[in-house]
Amino acid sequence: MLVKISLGGGLNQRIIVSLDFPAAASDLVRKLGPAASFYKVGLQLLTAAGPSFVRELVDAGKRVFLDLKLFEIPSSVAAAVAAAGELGISQVTVHASAGSAVLEAAVASAAHFPGLEVLALTVITSMDDEALREVGVVSTVPEQVLRLALLAQAAGCHGVVASPLEARLLRNTLPQEMLIVTPGIQPLEFAKGDHARFTTAAQAIEAGATHVVVGRPISRALNPAVSFAALCAELDG
Ligand code: C5P
Repeated sequence: MLVKISLGGGLNQRIIVSLDFPAAASDLVRKLGPAASFYKVGLQLLTAAGPSFVRELVDAGKRVFLDLKLFEIPSSVAAAVAAAGELGISQVTVHASAGSAVLEAAVASAAHFPGLEVLALTVITSMDDEALREVGVVSTVPEQVLRLALLAQAAGCHGVVASPLEARLLRNTLPQEMLIVTPGIQPLEFAKGDHARFTTAAQAIEAGATHVVVGRPISRALNPAVSFAALCAELDG
């Protein structure tokens, strides 16, 4: 079963701001104010600050992408997804390479929480073809990303996480309602002249990503609110 998703909303809702630095997370949320409505909480922040931080974000009206990167037996994943759902989050990640039984368990568990989307993590962006071979995968990165994305689709996942470099391949293959979330975004001024390695937010969206995850380009900026506004303007253009 695939739940139809309407993206709706403004462009700012397609930018998921990554809160990776526990000491500065609350401050960043305050600086961005109402302009930013969607935040990623990953393993570092969750471990350091605990679920109460997630609840605070949700209570403040923010959407939360809880990047748990679950890879466990189906019953444990289902239980973790339920615990995430209780926090009121919007999206949770599960490793697609854990297999269809795990993905299906996650989707079934998420169905108890209206609006909770399961995103299947395809291949982490730090892996290349050689790293895949090291763990016994002979496919190239794009082949493996596609294989896992199709597995995620068949299991009823709401979307996938992949590098922006695979966004077009995924968009051309997956149904339109499936979300494609891409981290690894570089700010426009850094990316100029290096098209081989860097992808801007606009390029990722143009290639078919529905959401971009952006961390340091905003959190490490002199003025995060200005950087966030520039990113919105980049997508608008
Ligand atoms: O690089 P940046 O600070 O924007 O990263 C934000 C988040 O995106 C990080 O938490 C990391 O999990 C993810 N990321 C990734 N692949 C990259 C760069 C970042 O998955 N190449």
